[in-house]
Amino acid sequence: MTRLRIDTPAEPPHAYDVLIEPGALDGLPDVVREFAPARRCAVISDAVVADILGERVRGALEAAGFAVELVRFPAGEQAKNRDSWGSVIDSVAGRGLTRDGCVIALGGGVTGDLAGFVAATFMRGVPVVQVPTSLLSMVDASVGGKTGLDTPAGKNLIGAFHQPAAVVVDPRVLATLPADHFRAGMAEAVKHGAIADAAYFDWIVAHAEALGGHDEAALVRLIRRSVEIKAEVVSEDPRERGRRQVLNFGHTFAHALETWTGYRTLHGFAVGAGMVAAAELGERAGITAAGTTDRLRSALQPLRVPERPDGVVPAERILDLARLDKKSREGKIRYTLLRTVGETARGPDGAWSIPVDDGLVGVVLRELWG
Ligand SMILES: NC(=O)c1ccc[n+]([C@@H]2O[C@H](COP(=O)([O-])OP(=O)(O)OC[C@H]3O[C@@H](n4cnc5c(N)ncnc54)[C@H](O)[C@@H]3O)[C@@H](O)[C@H]2O)c1
Ligand SMILES: [Zn+2]
Repeated sequence: MTRLRIDTPAEPPHAYDVLIEPGALDGLPDVVREFAPARRCAVISDAVVADILGERVRGALEAAGFAVELVRFPAGEQAKNRDSWGSVIDSVAGRGLTRDGCVIALGGGVTGDLAGFVAATFMRGVPVVQVPTSLLSMVDASVGGKTGLDTPAGKNLIGAFHQPAAVVVDPRVLATLPADHFRAGMAEAVKHGAIADAAYFDWIVAHAEALGGHDEAALVRLIRRSVEIKAEVVSEDPRERGRRQVLNFGHTFAHALETWTGYRTLHGFAVGAGMVAAAELGERAGITAAGTTDRLRSALQPLRVPERPDGVVPAERILDLARLDKKSREGKIRYTLLRTVGETARGPDGAWSIPVDDGLVGVVLRELWG
């Protein structure tokens, strides 16, 4: 069993474990008992995951003496919205969950963000155990305590920080994950290598085949290293005042693209394309080492993560949407850029995001996505 301890020092201080092991799902009742003591639990899942895993998890928890409510919402990024939040909260309240209950977020990153936000807001906060079932949520979304919802104007515009009581990762549940979602998850792992660990970046590329074949040892190693990198960054800056912005590499463009496509682009694929665009932008701005974009492209290729979005994407719309990005200051869009693979660039003022002239961004976007 791999057990990683995540410390978030500030506001309020909180520590929790991420447990990673093939078969870990069977140990969920013990984890809930230890870290989120409750009599009644709401297991929140999208419809797809509820059909595959819902009854198994409900059965295990009931056998361990918990009262369990399975609450479902429609699958997909387009359901990470206020309507789903409202109906899930109504179900949770209607079925008698109280302040001493707990939420179990069983699903991908959409479920983690939505159920986490339900847990953050229901009765001003109940504990949430994150049980990620997509690769993307295992390597990234389930750790760090960000929860939230999309709005038509932009991604994750509503949200709260709500650290989990525990995270339980069972790579075996990936057996049913659709292949395109598996590939999308690899994009966030590549991001972790790109921002902080060149050796990990190269390891992912060298093990693309084993990972694609769901080799258990390789998957555990991947999830573990990604969670370590994310944890290290988040522990230093839980509320994203500075260094946590490195996790945003590729995301200024990715979030704009997701919003522009009406949340029909997979988040991981948007991140893949966003990282290539941010690397090219960094090279043109003289911040990123020459050749970095090519290295990124050749990492994404064997993982079958597209290096650009389908069709023509209008640069002006992406710029307009990127202005809403949380890193923007005084109307200027700021980007997380690399120095090179394995190292994030810092601005002259030491900041982890750097403003770049809209004109140059437009040129790069028209070239890459036009
Ligand atoms: N909070 C954070 O720090 C953070 C970090 C990264 C991403 N995110 C968010 O995560 C979301 C993307 O997450 P995602 O890619 O996991 O999307 P998702 O939750 O929609 O899952 C992808 C699809 O796979 C299905 N699925 C999940 N697990 C499955 C399984 N084991 N078997 C079969 N099908 C399964 C889901 O039903 C869904 O259709 C985005 O909204 C993104 O903003 C959040
Ligand atoms: Zn992401």
